[in-house]
Amino acid sequence: MRKLSQTVAFDAALLHKYNQPLPRYTSYPPATELKSDFDRDAFQTAIAVGNRKQTPLSLYCHIPFCETPCYFCGCNTIITQRKEVAEPYLGYLARQIRQVASLVDANRRVHQLHWGGGTPNYLDRAQVEFLWNQFNRYFSFDTAAEISIEVNPRYVDRDYILFLRQLGFNRISFGIQDFNPQVQEAINRVQPEAMLFNVMAWMREAGFESVNVDLIYGLPFQTDATFKDTVQKTVQLNPDRIAVFNFAYVPWIKPVQKRMPTSAMPDAAEKLEILQSTIAQLTQHGYVFIGMDHFAKPDDELAIAQQAGQLHRNFQGYTTKPESDLLGFGITSISMLQDVYCQNHKKLKDFYQAIDAGELPIEKGIQLNRDDLIRRTAIAELMCQFKLSAPDLEEKYHLGFDLDFNDYFAEELVRLDALETDRLIERRGDGIEVTPLGRLLIRNIASVFDTYLKPEAIRGFSKSV
Ligand SMILES: C[S@@+](CC[C@H](N)C(=O)[O-])C[C@H]1O[C@@H](n2cnc3c(N)ncnc32)[C@H](O)[C@@H]1O
Repeated sequence: MRKLSQTVAFDAALLHKYNQPLPRYTSYPPATELKSDFDRDAFQTAIAVGNRKQTPLSLYCHIPFCETPCYFCGCNTIITQRKEVAEPYLGYLARQIRQVASLVDANRRVHQLHWGGGTPNYLDRAQVEFLWNQFNRYFSFDTAAEISIEVNPRYVDRDYILFLRQLGFNRISFGIQDFNPQVQEAINRVQPEAMLFNVMAWMREAGFESVNVDLIYGLPFQTDATFKDTVQKTVQLNPDRIAVFNFAYVPWIKPVQKRMPTSAMPDAAEKLEILQSTIAQLTQHGYVFIGMDHFAKPDDELAIAQQAGQLHRNFQGYTTKPESDLLGFGITSISMLQDVYCQNHKKLKDFYQAIDAGELPIEKGIQLNRDDLIRRTAIAELMCQFKLSAPDLEEKYHLGFDLDFNDYFAEELVRLDALETDRLIERRGDGIEVTPLGRLLIRNIASVFDTYLKPEAIRGFSKSV
C-alpha cells in the first residue's frame, strides 16, 4: 500500500463537488436500509447457521445513559442524573442476554465483547459486576478474548479503573475530542489536561493491554493550529490507538448539536487541512494510519492486519475479526450476522415491552441478497485496503461462471471515470487503486458501488468532508 505522506492540494470546486452527505459505510447496506417489516425469523435462522459452522461471536452491549449532554454527540443517549434508571435497564439486559444465549450453541466462543454508550461508566461497580457476570454465565469466552469498555474520563477515579481491569476488561477507550479549553466549553465537555493525563496514568498502572482515545475534528473553534496542539498533547499521552473522527453534524437527528455555534465550525477546506496535518503529525510520531480515521502503533494488530490485507469493517468500525457474528445487546444495538443485520428497539419502553412479551427486542432489520453481499465486499475492500481487485471478487463470488466484474459493474466503471479524472483513483489492469487524495474522500469512492444511495436517501447522512 502506498504511504499517505504527502499533503494533497484541493481546489475549491473539487471540494464542493465531493463534500456530499454520504454513509460512513460501517456496513453495507447502510443502517438506514434496516426496515421494520423485517422477518424476525431470519435472525434466528442466521444464528442457527452460525451454530452449525461454529462461527465465533462478537458481543456489543449498549449503556445509553449519560450524566450530562456533550453537544457534539451523534450517538443514542439518555441524559439523566437519576441514576436509578440503570437498575431496570440492567434487569432487562440480563433477560436479553439469557434470551439470545438460549438460541446460541454453548460451544461457540466469544472472542470480542465491547461495552459502549452513552457512558458505560455511568454504572457503579456493583452494576458493572452484575452485568459482567451475566455475560460470563451465558457465553463461553475465548481465553484471548478482547474485552473492551468506553469510559468518560470525567466520571472515573483510580479505583474504578483498577476495578475494571481486575474484573477482566483488557482494553479501554476514552473520549478526549479536543484538549483546547474553548472547544471543550463549546461542546459542553470540560476535562482539564491534568485530568486526562491522570486517567491515562491509572489505565497504564492497571495494565490494560490497549488504550484507545477518541478525537474529533470539525468542532467549533478548531483551527489547524489549535488541533495540532491537541494532536501533540495526544502523542504525549502515548495511547496505543487513536481514533480521529470527522465530526458528523446531524442536527435534524440530534437537536442538541444546535447548541453549538455553527459559525465557529471549520469549513470543509479547513477540515481537510486539519485532517492532513493530523495524518502527517501522527505518522511522524510513529503511528500508522489505519483505514479512514484510525491510527495505531506499528505493532498493534490493526496495523499488522492492514499491512497483511486483513483489515475489516463492521458496525463498530475497523476490526481484525471478520468471520464473527456480532450480537447486539441493549437499546439501538445492531446485530450483524453473515447475511442478516438487525437493530434493537431505540426506546426503553419498546425494548422492555418486547422482552416482557417474550419476543426478540428487534425493531428493524435486513436480509442481504447476493448483490448486497458482492457490493459489501467491494466497499469493504475499498474502505480497508484502498483498492479493489476484480479477480479476488470474481473468485469469491464465482462471478466468472455467468458474468464477470466488468459486466457486473459496467455502470459503476463508467461513473469511476470521473473519479479517475479527478485523481481519486487509478485503474490497474485487474481493478482499481485509491490515490492518497482518494483516501481522504474514500466515502465518495465507496458510494459509487452503493445501489441504495438515491437523492432522497442521502438527506440523513453527514457530509463526507
Ligand atoms: C459513543 S461515544 C462514547 C464515549 C464515552 N462515553 C465518553 O464520553 O468518553 C464514542 C465516541 O464517538 C465519537 N462521536 C460521538 N458523536 C460524534 C459525532 N457527532 N461525530 C463524530 N464522532 C462522534 C466521540 O469521539 C466519542 O468519544
